[in-house]
Amino acid sequence: MPSKTEGSSTGPAKRMTMSKEYKRTLITTALPYTNGPVHIGHLAGVYVPADIYARYLRLAGRPVTLIGGSDEHGVPITLKARAEGVTPQDIVDRYHALIKKSFEELGISFDIYSRTTSDIHTETASEFFRRLYDKGEFIEQTSEQLYDPEAGQFLADRYVTGECPHCHNPKAYGDQCEACGTSLAATDLINPKSTITGATPVLKSTRHWYLPLDKWEPKLRQWILEGHKEWKSNVYGQCKSWLDMGLQPRAVSRDLSWGVPVPVEGAEGKVLYVWFDAPIGYISNTKELLPDSWQTWWKDPETRIINFIGKDNIVFHCIVFPAMLMAYGDNFQLPDNVPANEFLNLEGDKISTSRNWAVWLHEYLADFPGKQDVLRYVLTANAPETKDNDFTWRDFQARNNNELVAILGNFVNRVVVLTHKYYGGAVPAAGKIQDIDTQAYAELASLKESLTDNLENFHFREALKDAMGIARMGNKYLQDCEPWKVVKTDPERVATVINVCTQICASLAIAMEPFMPFMSAKLCRILGMDKVEWNEIGTELIAAGTMLGQPELLFEKIDDETIKAQTDRLEAIQKENALRAWQPAPVQKECTIDDFQKLDIRVGTVEECARVPKADKLLVFKINDGTGKQRTIVSGIAQHYVPEALVGKQVLFIANLAPAKIRGIVSQGMILSALNANGSLTVTSLLSKGSDGAQVK
Ligand code: 2FM
Ligand code: ZN
Repeated sequence: MPSKTEGSSTGPAKRMTMSKEYKRTLITTALPYTNGPVHIGHLAGVYVPADIYARYLRLAGRPVTLIGGSDEHGVPITLKARAEGVTPQDIVDRYHALIKKSFEELGISFDIYSRTTSDIHTETASEFFRRLYDKGEFIEQTSEQLYDPEAGQFLADRYVTGECPHCHNPKAYGDQCEACGTSLAATDLINPKSTITGATPVLKSTRHWYLPLDKWEPKLRQWILEGHKEWKSNVYGQCKSWLDMGLQPRAVSRDLSWGVPVPVEGAEGKVLYVWFDAPIGYISNTKELLPDSWQTWWKDPETRIINFIGKDNIVFHCIVFPAMLMAYGDNFQLPDNVPANEFLNLEGDKISTSRNWAVWLHEYLADFPGKQDVLRYVLTANAPETKDNDFTWRDFQARNNNELVAILGNFVNRVVVLTHKYYGGAVPAAGKIQDIDTQAYAELASLKESLTDNLENFHFREALKDAMGIARMGNKYLQDCEPWKVVKTDPERVATVINVCTQICASLAIAMEPFMPFMSAKLCRILGMDKVEWNEIGTELIAAGTMLGQPELLFEKIDDETIKAQTDRLEAIQKENALRAWQPAPVQKECTIDDFQKLDIRVGTVEECARVPKADKLLVFKINDGTGKQRTIVSGIAQHYVPEALVGKQVLFIANLAPAKIRGIVSQGMILSALNANGSLTVTSLLSKGSDGAQVK
C-alpha cells in the first residue's frame, strides 16, 4: 500500500471537461420558498448533491463556499399568510427557522444559510435593479393586467388560476402550468379566476419594467450552446429549446405589497418580481458571509460558480439570471455549470406540498433519530440525475438492511471485532504481502479513481456505488482470506490481513464522508483518525499499534413495523386527498319519462341476509317483494354493512333486471345504493315505512 506521502493527486480527473484550473468554487443551492417545510424531493434534487460536492472539494483541499438561504418573497407566501390570517413575515419566520434547523440536522454543511428578507439582501437587490435602471437596461411598458375588482388588487402569478392554453389543465397558475411545465403570463390563462375572492378578473392598465432577454440572446446562445456543451443533457436541451423559441422581454416588477420595493420614483405599490430578487440572494448571502472578500467569489475569473437546482429552475438560472448579470456587467461571473436534477416522486406519485404528498425532512428527523445518513444514502443511490425517480419506503428499508447494515456495517464491525479478539484492539503490523493483498490495494486505487472522476462530473449515484464498492471489496477480501480459519495455522498471515482490512476501513471513512458524514465521523473515531484528506484514500492511514475503539454498530436494521407506520400515514393522506378532490359525477344525458318507467323500482323488506362464502364484497339477500315469494338478490356491499344489521330493513330494488348468476347464485334484481365521496356505499331506503312490492313512481 502506498504510504501517506505518495498518495495519488486529486488533480482534475480524466473525464473532466474543465479546461482551466480554478482557484475556488462557489456553490449555490436553490433558495427554497418559505411557505412550507422542505421534503425529500428538495433534498434529492438540490441539497444532498450540493453538500456531497462541497464536502468532497473541502476534503480535496480546494477552497469552496456553500451558499444557501430562504427565498422569502413571492405570492405562495402571501397566499399562505392570508389563509392562516397571519402576516407574511410570520410565515417566513416560522419556515425559515424550521428549514434552517432541519438542514443543519441533516448535515448540509452550508457556510451560510441566510434569507431574502435580510437588510443586506434588500440593499443588494435594490442596488442591482437601480444600476440596470440607470444604465437603461430595462424597457418600461404599460400593459393591461388582470385585476380583482372585489379585492382591489392586481393578480400576479399565483393570485390567479385558470385553464392552461397549452395542455388545458384547468388549474394552471398565472406564472406556470404545473401539469405541462410551461411558463405562463397570467393573461394567457383561459377563464381566469382570482385565488383571493374567486372573482373573474378584469383588465386594468399598469406600468412595469421589463428586462429585454432578446437583447442578450446572441450572447447567451454563444455562452451556453457553444461554450457549455458539457452541461447535463437535460439542462443543455432545455436551454436550447428556450433559445430556439426566441427570447422575449420579461417583467421584473409586480403590483404587490410583499417583496423588495422597486427603488425608483413613482413605483409605489410595486415590488421586484421574486425571480428577479431571489438569485441576487446568492450574492447578498455571500456578501453577508464574506463582507471583505465577496467580490473575489463573484468577479474573479478564477472562481468557478456551480448552481445546484431542480429542473423547474433551469430557465431562471441559465437564461434570466445570466442575462441580469450580463446587463449588470462589472465582471460578474456566470455559472460554470448548472447540474440540475429531475424530480423525485413518492410511492409512484408526484410530490406535492398542497396535497401533503411528501416525506417532510423535519418529520423524518423526528421519526428516525440518528438516521440522517440513511436518508442521505437512499436519496443519493436513487437520485433523479437523468430522469424522474421514485422514493418508496420499501426501497428505503431494503437499502438500509441489505446494503448499509449487511455490507458496510458488517465489514467494519467484523474488522474491529477481529482486531479486538486477536490483538486486544491494537492494529497489528503487516507481514509479508501476498498477491491477494496487492490485488486489494489495486482495486482500492481504481475505485478511488472512478469515485473521484464521478464526483468531479456530478455523477453522484455512480460515485456512491464506487464508495460502496470499497466496502464490498473489503468484505470479499476478508471472506477470501478467512483469518478465523488461518489463525490456527498461520497467525502472522492473519496480522497482515487485519492490517489490510483496517486500512480499507480507513479509506472507506474518507470516501464516504461526502455522502454519510455522521457515519464517517463515527468510523474515524473508532479508527483513531482525526483530520483526513481525500488524497489519503488508498494509503496506509492507520499505523501499526494504533488502539481501535470498541466495536459499535454503524447502522441498525429497520423493521417492517417502522416502515408500515410510514406507509399507513401515506395511505391516510391519499384517502383525505381523494375525499377533498371528490366531486359529484356529472348528470347523465337527459332521459324521458318512458326511459324511467322501463325500470321497475320497488320497495322490499330484507328477511334474510348473509355473506357469500369466499367473496369479500358480496351479500346475498332474501327480500319480501310483496308477492308472497322470497326474491334472492346478490349485492356488492359486504364491505359496508354487516348482514345482521340489514335484516328487517326496507330497501329499494330493481325488480325487472334480467336475472344473473353471481358465484353460482341467481340474483333476481339489484338493491339500490349511493356511492359516496369516500368510496363507501349507502343502501337507499324510504323516509317512512312503505308497502312491500310498492312501485317507485
Ligand atoms: O423554486 C423555488 O423554490 C425557488 N424559490 C428557487 C429560487 S432559486 C434562487 F434563484 F434563489
Ligand atoms: Zn399546461
